[in-house]
Amino acid sequence: MNYIIETERLKLRELTLDDTDKLALVLSDPQSMRFYPHPFSREEVEHWIKWNIDNYKKYGFGLWAVIEKESDEFIGDCGITMQQVENDLFHEIGYHLRKEYRGKGYATEAARACSDYAKNRGVEQIISYMKSDNLPSRHVAERNGMTFVKSFTKTVMGKVVEDEVLYMKDLNANEKIRDVQIEDAERLLEIYSHYVLNTAVSFEYDVPTLEEFKERIRNTKKKYPYLVCEKDGKIIGYVYASAYSSRESYSWTVSTSIYVDKDYRRQGAGTLLYRELEARLKEMGIINLLAGTAFTEKEDEYLTQDSPKFHLKQGYREAAHMIGIGKKFDRWYDLKWFQKKI
Ligand SMILES: CC(C)(COP(=O)(O)OP(=O)(O)OC[C@H]1O[C@@H](n2cnc3c(N)ncnc32)[C@H](O)[C@@H]1OP(=O)(O)O)[C@@H](O)C(=O)NCCC(=O)NCCS
Repeated sequence: MNYIIETERLKLRELTLDDTDKLALVLSDPQSMRFYPHPFSREEVEHWIKWNIDNYKKYGFGLWAVIEKESDEFIGDCGITMQQVENDLFHEIGYHLRKEYRGKGYATEAARACSDYAKNRGVEQIISYMKSDNLPSRHVAERNGMTFVKSFTKTVMGKVVEDEVLYMKDLNANEKIRDVQIEDAERLLEIYSHYVLNTAVSFEYDVPTLEEFKERIRNTKKKYPYLVCEKDGKIIGYVYASAYSSRESYSWTVSTSIYVDKDYRRQGAGTLLYRELEARLKEMGIINLLAGTAFTEKEDEYLTQDSPKFHLKQGYREAAHMIGIGKKFDRWYDLKWFQKKI
């Protein structure tokens, strides 16, 4: 069998009409197709496969069959098709999985592999679109590094659907979010040192030793995501979550910390880091994010309002304001807690 794409757990190959019965388990299932005008008839499933066979010939890609490696089972389709959104034609990443195979991160794994496939073939931009209330699909698009662009109207299966949402990713953007490695500690400490030594952003007075900083990373990683943002191979920021409190009732609540290299602020790294962190935390069942940030009504040489403004922009709301709670550089600073429900 000729596989087009292989990932850790999945293999993708071209669809054939022999897949009709298996694909019907997704496309003809009323629950799976609740965001479409109607579940597909058998004829429509066959038509879907023929459309993709045409796409393979015409473009060299289409929606492919997704096979779970472990069981060799056909679990759905995922791939790239050309789609018109208003006046523009885009490469779209689409995915449909059988319901028994959802919740395992398979759609994200396949969609990411398709993004890489498109990138390797020189595609500059990819999109995904779905109905606005199709939250699982929106979640996959976000996990695939896409951002929400706009709502629009599209004719789907001959029916005008008004609340479609468009997600997009620029494949030339060279920022990448990945899990931290212990070898990153030195660079992260370099980023953090600036905030310890020159600002009241961190209420710490002394820069921790490299060993201590590595220990913090190891401890955090035991339970929570710890991510870095790389631009052209250089780490420019990092983010992590930690327990807000060890009391059981707080099990669904974490506190978040984020640091972007002072020379790379306002370039979107903070947003990318928070987006991926949120997606990871959501998967863990976390529902409350808290961010404690030093605050001053009047900005001075040690503290700006970057962090409060950034958090408000990320959808946090102010939850608490503690006055004059930390002393640094012989000045008293406030602390604000920001909260976001995810
Ligand atoms: C807060 C911080 C993480 C933001 O990271 P960033 O990469 O600069 O943020 P982004 O570029 O993704 O900013 C996203 C949006 O947040 C808002 N924002 C960020 N900084 C802002 C500022 N100084 N003033 C106003 N709005 C700001 C803007 O709306 C911005 O979007 P825009 O640039 O398109 O207007 C970064 O400034 C930083 O590392 N600060 C020091 C550490 C810190 O305070 N951490 C939080 C405490 S744990």
